[in-house]
Amino acid sequence: MKSDNPRILVTGGAGFIGSNYARMILRSLTSCELVILDKFTYSGSKLTLVDIADDPRVTIVEGDICDVSAVNRALEGCDAVVNFAAETHVDRSLIDPASFIHTNVHGTWVLLEAVRQHYEVRFVQVSTDEVYGAVLSGQSVETDLIHPRNPYSASKAGAEMMAIAYAESHGVDVVITRGSNTYGPYQYPEKFIPLMITNVIEGRTIPVYGDGLQVRHWIHADDHARAIHTALLHGKSGEIYNAGSDDERTNISVARAVVDLLGASDDLIEHVTDRPGHDRRYALSSDKLRSLGWEPSWTFDEGIKQTVDWYRENSDWWRAVRDASFEEYYQSNYGGRTAMSPSDTDQE
Ligand code: DAU
Repeated sequence: MKSDNPRILVTGGAGFIGSNYARMILRSLTSCELVILDKFTYSGSKLTLVDIADDPRVTIVEGDICDVSAVNRALEGCDAVVNFAAETHVDRSLIDPASFIHTNVHGTWVLLEAVRQHYEVRFVQVSTDEVYGAVLSGQSVETDLIHPRNPYSASKAGAEMMAIAYAESHGVDVVITRGSNTYGPYQYPEKFIPLMITNVIEGRTIPVYGDGLQVRHWIHADDHARAIHTALLHGKSGEIYNAGSDDERTNISVARAVVDLLGASDDLIEHVTDRPGHDRRYALSSDKLRSLGWEPSWTFDEGIKQTVDWYRENSDWWRAVRDASFEEYYQSNYGGRTAMSPSDTDQE
């Protein structure tokens, strides 16, 4: 892809990682064009794009990646497409898996097919460490077998397989990134970190699934965005790149850090019935991406502080997206869970 004045289609650009990617590109390239294609679902709000909507380098298109004509129009003149558009929340995939298969698998296929038929562009499929399934020890490398264990991760694995198939069968220039748990500004508050921050600010309890000893690697959205762009610019066609920090934390330690930063009491932490099929640990080796020149710049301690501060200062944003439909979801996901002591939790 030409690195000078590229035109990039950012699907799902009103979502969390997509919007952070768009901001990172606009900050670092004076000369570029971004086409943001977004369906503006519950988790992709127009409010998320307010600060960049009037930038002359940005074109915002309301549309669905499952819509062939919207996709073809958006791809016109582009040098690359970075596909962030997806249903992403594991808990929702346990309640409504159909939308995950539709957007994540079918939508990715629509994009790939449009590219195959009409456009010579590099296609970056933004995927997830969840495709590896639970990794109880060591770190996942890109050649490991994948073993997705929930409908969300299965749909992301399906999207990856389709992308690889289009690379192998049709020569589409595909690169895949598998990111680890991401945090930072503009994350919809259904996810663990923003859910905790906003709950604590509202004086509500923090629901920690099971014993809270599940382990995740946490990467700041800005570092994740740069990782994806490194793969776009320097990745080898047909290859997969893990994008994670080495910052490994248990959920309970993350909960305590958030409570502490907000000056609240640990008593707000409530252990509740675990998520079915909850993967105990994810851990990525990102050596392959690091060999392309990328490295994370945020430590978790700095990043979580910046994120907590951002939510404190941007309550207009999160209060607007934490609307009535959010409360409805909250009831359906958490209403039936029972509070328990960590020693009573039944882990796999
Ligand atoms: O690992 C990358 C993945 O990270 C992305 O592909 C997904 O799109 C993203 O949702 C995220 O998946 P997780 O399921 O790991 O993220 P979530 O924020 O939902 O949960 C993080 C951890 O916290 C996980 O072990 C479940 C736990 N958790 C989550 C919620 C929402 C709780 O204990 N309580 C909660 O209320």
